Amino acid sequence: MTIADIMQTAPVIPVIVVDDLEHAKPLARALVAGGLPILEVTLRTPVALDAIRAMSEVEGAIVGAGTVTNERELASAVDAGSRFIVSPGLTKPLGKAAIRDDIPFLPGIANAGDIMRGLDLGLTHFKFFPAMAAGGLPALKALAAPFGQCRFCPTGGVSLDNAAEWLAFDPVLCVGGSWVAPRGAVDEAKVEQLAREACALRG
Ligand code: 3PG
Repeated sequence: MTIADIMQTAPVIPVIVVDDLEHAKPLARALVAGGLPILEVTLRTPVALDAIRAMSEVEGAIVGAGTVTNERELASAVDAGSRFIVSPGLTKPLGKAAIRDDIPFLPGIANAGDIMRGLDLGLTHFKFFPAMAAGGLPALKALAAPFGQCRFCPTGGVSLDNAAEWLAFDPVLCVGGSWVAPRGAVDEAKVEQLAREACALRG
């Protein structure tokens, strides 16, 4: 799968923080059952890599790592079985390493210079982060105009209330958000319902 394929699989990529490894599989099961198979597990907790391994065992789940900020984290994430990598920003060393490892890569951008650095590396698919704080949809519209070849996944402050608006903008292939994967004990029925609502955002 390319990063474009991954972005077009479902309208929402859950941004997941796993505090307790016991939560990993039930969370993945519920999200997949609700129609969201692309799962971004952020490397923000000590169990994140084990959570990627555990969630990867859930049938239908396509699990990647988020909050990957350097080559060392990229290597650990790939080693844990990540099928894609998300980063809050874009550095040349990380971009080059992801391309060398041939792993689908979604780096964060927030301005034209970031996008140009990505294009220099041959990247055209980006996470717009932090989407709301960086100016929301008007900012992305202005930013996307000179870069017609680029596609985006806004993340950061995206919710069920505003996701449809983002998704209606053609260069936006999907959005990312934590609202579909609340932290703490997993209520599978509740998470499945959140995923269903998110999935229905693109009819
Ligand atoms: C991220 O890491 O991409 C964001 O923290 C997710 O943002 P949200 O919690 O506002 O959805």
